Amino acid sequence: MSDNTIIKVSNLIKTFGSTTVLNGVSLDFERSQVTCIIGASGSGKSTLLRCMAFLETYEGGRIEIEGQLLGYVENQGIRQRASSSRIAETRRNVGFVFQHFNLWPHMTALENVAKPLWLTAGCSRQEARERGAAALEKVGLADKLSSYPIQLSGGQQQRVAIARTLAKEPHIILFDEPTSALDPEIVGEVLQVMRNLADEGMTMAVVTHEMGFAAHVANRIAFIDQGVIAVEGKPRDVLLNKDNPRLVRFLKNFFDRNNFVAA
Ligand SMILES: Nc1ncnc2c1ncn2[C@@H]1O[C@H](COP(=O)(O)OP(=O)(O)OP(=O)(O)O)[C@@H](O)[C@H]1O
Ligand SMILES: [Mg+2]
Repeated sequence: MSDNTIIKVSNLIKTFGSTTVLNGVSLDFERSQVTCIIGASGSGKSTLLRCMAFLETYEGGRIEIEGQLLGYVENQGIRQRASSSRIAETRRNVGFVFQHFNLWPHMTALENVAKPLWLTAGCSRQEARERGAAALEKVGLADKLSSYPIQLSGGQQQRVAIARTLAKEPHIILFDEPTSALDPEIVGEVLQVMRNLADEGMTMAVVTHEMGFAAHVANRIAFIDQGVIAVEGKPRDVLLNKDNPRLVRFLKNFFDRNNFVAA
């Protein structure tokens, strides 16, 4: 593994009961690269991201975060679940932004961002407030530090959630459909924040249906289908792919639904 690999997923297998959702997924996430993950509903996109943060266990294959096996310890070929503290340590530098922002309603934007820092990241309250304010400034919310979630638009709430993740100074951020719960007119402001992060060199894995973002911001698109990464490559090559019938159908359905005219 190169020093530039932040997360290495090899032959990942994930089942729910008798259903195998991921059946040998391999994907490396290199420093400063933006990877968009696309695929049909139910294809396992969220499950893959959740495994990468060990919000789900996995049955086979490996997920390594900066060289450390995530979730398990191995002893003479036998794998056992790692202790909670070891899991927390291994995924310390992985940030996660969900579709639903899950802000604490009774706390201001600044408290939402700062509290996890002094609760779990070992910061003093003063340091947490400073880092929190800087993160909120970065997502364009310097004037909303004292606002409560109910006083913010959906786009602003999602930006608070991004700031909450950023403040932990992650080495990679996993985004699971960060704009799909938002009204169309405010999707752009969240995508712009993500684009700025990409420009600054943040490593990102983004599950999204925003094909414009995937086309223009991602370094790479991965199409997940039938439990594996069926197609992976530069955005243009993936979006204009003619060789994988399932990808062609997925894109056609997508563009028909969204009234796009294929370029
Ligand atoms: N906790 C769970 N228990 C059982 N089955 C699950 C669980 N989570 C996901 N699944 C199943 O795993 C499959 C993949 O789900 P997943 O949520 O990863 O899909 P997705 O690609 O993110 O879909 P969407 O685009 O709709 O968000 C689905 O068939 C789903 O029903
Ligand atoms: Mg999903």
